[in-house]
Amino acid sequence: MLDYKFSIDAIKVNKTFFKKKSRINALVDFNIQIPKGSIYGLLGPNGAGKSTFINILGGLVNKNEGKISICGIDIDTNSKLSKKKIGIVPQELNIDPFFTPYELLELQAGLYGIPKKQRNTEEILHNVGLFEQRDAYARTLSGGMRRRLLVAKAIVHNPEMLILDEPTAGVDVELRANLWNYIRDLNKKGTTICLTTHYLDEAEELCDYISIIDKGKILKDDTKNNLLNIISNKTVSFAVQEKISIPKELDKYNPILKENNLIINYDKQKTTLKSIINILNNNKINFKEINTYESDLEDIFMKIINENDK
Ligand SMILES: Nc1ncnc2c1ncn2[C@@H]1O[C@H](COP(=O)(O)OP(=O)(O)OP(=O)(O)O)[C@@H](O)[C@H]1O
Ligand SMILES: [Mg+2]
Repeated sequence: MLDYKFSIDAIKVNKTFFKKKSRINALVDFNIQIPKGSIYGLLGPNGAGKSTFINILGGLVNKNEGKISICGIDIDTNSKLSKKKIGIVPQELNIDPFFTPYELLELQAGLYGIPKKQRNTEEILHNVGLFEQRDAYARTLSGGMRRRLLVAKAIVHNPEMLILDEPTAGVDVELRANLWNYIRDLNKKGTTICLTTHYLDEAEELCDYISIIDKGKILKDDTKNNLLNIISNKTVSFAVQEKISIPKELDKYNPILKENNLIINYDKQKTTLKSIINILNNNKINFKEINTYESDLEDIFMKIINENDK
């Protein structure tokens, strides 16, 4: 098997759409490298260019410029093979309404030339939670069920990489959790995952790497942990038991005393929570509860997008 480091390696991809007389630069010198074996999130507001990039990978949209390889295979010189390496769950729910989930998956397996004996249609249906609906017409499935059917369809040929464009839009909370568990399992077994989502808390929980995209450009890409450290400000609140006077050593943290809560802001790169607790202990200040607040992916996403809008 071909050895490669990046499941997707895209260099200087440009795509412009022409709508009547206006030009839309959907992707502008777009570079991305998705490490093999990772879970990679593409995050960005509506119209950022996420689906355009995914559709280029799937051969539904042609790029104007740039070079892309999928699992080490150039999409221009070997487009057929490159498409076999990936399974794509599209953003639109385009399902043929007159087939049942079972028939659809069998049909898809046939398209990929998978012999009947090697197919695992029932297992896939079970894993995406559609086993009971396997013989129902697709038009009778709910929105969330259709989306899960699209996931099933994308993995029929056991691709090396699964790309999911908004896989959980419209899927209820419990099934969403099931779907993520299943995707995590696929990843553990070696499938590289790339996804877009507007649920930033889910991206934060799931992804190893994240790219933040807006107006066709990558504004930031890094490991999730590095991104979460961009804002190093942290807040801690101590519920104090009695009236206290704030120790002088805390002055540099702009402490606030509000309704028996002592609130302190500090830079987690420079100060540890332990050193703050030590100051309280040294000053004989008792507290019955500590609450900390750290910026999450949403804070960081907003900061990066807002800075780009300036
Ligand atoms: N077929 C098309 N013809 C003309 N313009 C298009 C076409 N497809 C996408 N665009 C435009 O390209 C830009 C990027 O769209 P894209 O669908 O890639 O965004 P997205 O990041 O997937 O957004 P969303 O989060 O809403 O799905 C938008 O301005 C969109 O209007
Ligand atoms: Mg989209």
